[in-house]
Amino acid sequence: MVILTIDHADTKFTKIINMSQLIIHSPLGTRKLEIDLQISVRNMLDLTDWRVRAACGGQGSCGACLVKLLSGKANPLTLAEYQKIPITEREQGWRLSCQLRLMSDAEIEIEHLAHASQWRSIAVENLLTFENLGLPNLSTHPFGVAVDLGTTHLRVTLWNRKTATRIASRHGANPQQRYGSDVLHRLDSAVQSPQIAQEMSELVLHAIIEAVRDMLMREVGEVSPMLAEIGEVFIVGNAAMLTLLTAHGSDELLNPAFWQKTVNCQPEHFESWHALWKLPNAEIVVLPPVSGFVGSDLTADLLATHLCESENAAFLLDVGTNTEIALWTGSELFITAVPGAPAFEGIGICNGMLAESGAICDIKQTDSGLEIKTINNEPARGFCGSGLVDAIAVLVANGTLKPSGRFAQTVGNEGFAFIENNPHSILVGSDIDTFQRAKAAIAAAMLTLLEQANLDWQKIERLCVCGAFGRHLNIQNAQAIGLLPTIATEKVELYADASLAGCELALLCEHGAQAFTQLTLHAKTFNLSLIPNYDDCYINQLRLKPIF
Ligand code: FES
Repeated sequence: MVILTIDHADTKFTKIINMSQLIIHSPLGTRKLEIDLQISVRNMLDLTDWRVRAACGGQGSCGACLVKLLSGKANPLTLAEYQKIPITEREQGWRLSCQLRLMSDAEIEIEHLAHASQWRSIAVENLLTFENLGLPNLSTHPFGVAVDLGTTHLRVTLWNRKTATRIASRHGANPQQRYGSDVLHRLDSAVQSPQIAQEMSELVLHAIIEAVRDMLMREVGEVSPMLAEIGEVFIVGNAAMLTLLTAHGSDELLNPAFWQKTVNCQPEHFESWHALWKLPNAEIVVLPPVSGFVGSDLTADLLATHLCESENAAFLLDVGTNTEIALWTGSELFITAVPGAPAFEGIGICNGMLAESGAICDIKQTDSGLEIKTINNEPARGFCGSGLVDAIAVLVANGTLKPSGRFAQTVGNEGFAFIENNPHSILVGSDIDTFQRAKAAIAAAMLTLLEQANLDWQKIERLCVCGAFGRHLNIQNAQAIGLLPTIATEKVELYADASLAGCELALLCEHGAQAFTQLTLHAKTFNLSLIPNYDDCYINQLRLKPIF
């Protein structure tokens, strides 16, 4: 059996109180960062666009990751630092950032940043860890790559499959966004022009291998010889992203007749991928979507959360530009999707943005007023999904917003500003409307699946909320405005990167691809537009109040 270790809410709290502030000077200027004292300065910088040079995975052997500690308490110099840094430079405060752990607020200088790159490490707290894996019996090519191909982001991890060790992780933007931020625009473009379809496919193929090369270069120290050691590449994604990756099947996805059918997302042949990636020994597996509107990212979520391994009923939501929903009844799997929630990734919201630096992610009403937090404590640049949920819940609770979604008369046409003189902190009426439609679609879909399964909420023992959106979500606020059902909060589990974790599990297990596809073999998929009561249910759920 596979056991997943998940960061529970209280663990996250412990992490927060171990945060400290770091001032960084570099040739690009000065910035402040909130940092986790438990990780090395190099690993912390790898989460940002100010990465130091590195070529040994933080082993202290390449000597490239130098920073100068200007002030603050830190761990003593390590043996590696005595070996790699001359005494005069040590006396000036130079340290290897991979060996450096801060113990207080601090200030550092970086003389040489690494080359600019779009790739960042994924924060450890967003990655799942696995135990008791039945590892494949390998004698050659032990490295493996797991890819979660999202509409807005790619997440890629590099593994030693023999030892079940995650060597490194990267996330970066999906370069297909230049053809449209939503999947419909991209599918349309692909169907209109085979040349654009090919270009979009190549953009992602290049991005995947760039991420792999970045990991090998910085964490292993060698690229070309190590590419030959990669024996498997597993890829999951929503159905649209997989068809665009393989330049195959986009026309089927735009045809409603295929929404509940299996869509062939496999490329004609993998030889060109092998040649492009320079991976002579890798078996490449594009894990197939469940149907035209449910991708293999949902299957990966099911695998990572073990949703179908209990006799208890459970829901799973993967909230993204296309929200996929699964209901496990204890013996049967019901699946649907709503094209519902680009709002949670900032799309369609005037000041919406992804959960990146400067995004308002947490709002609380306190006795002394509103307490507003942004990611990395940067000046507010907009609302990410969780910030949007908090903003609306707070406004409804204090009467500024009515459950109908209309502002009280005290708010003018220009909307409500959460921070004085900051135009990026304003919510307007159309934002509320967009949010209402998104949350009503999700709530109505859940209610419809329950009805189809002849179950009620009391029977639901788990609710797994997957996707980047879940990272900072305030569950009570989401329940108060009808995005999540009002079940006991301890039954709600938040997973930031479950689809990547499911892909990793398939990569690491013996016969992982087979187990993966079997998971949804007997699932019942529902096209909500064909369910008579769905529209009425959707309209009932538009109000900003609990689902039931
Ligand atoms: S010495 Fe720090 S990354 Fe190589």
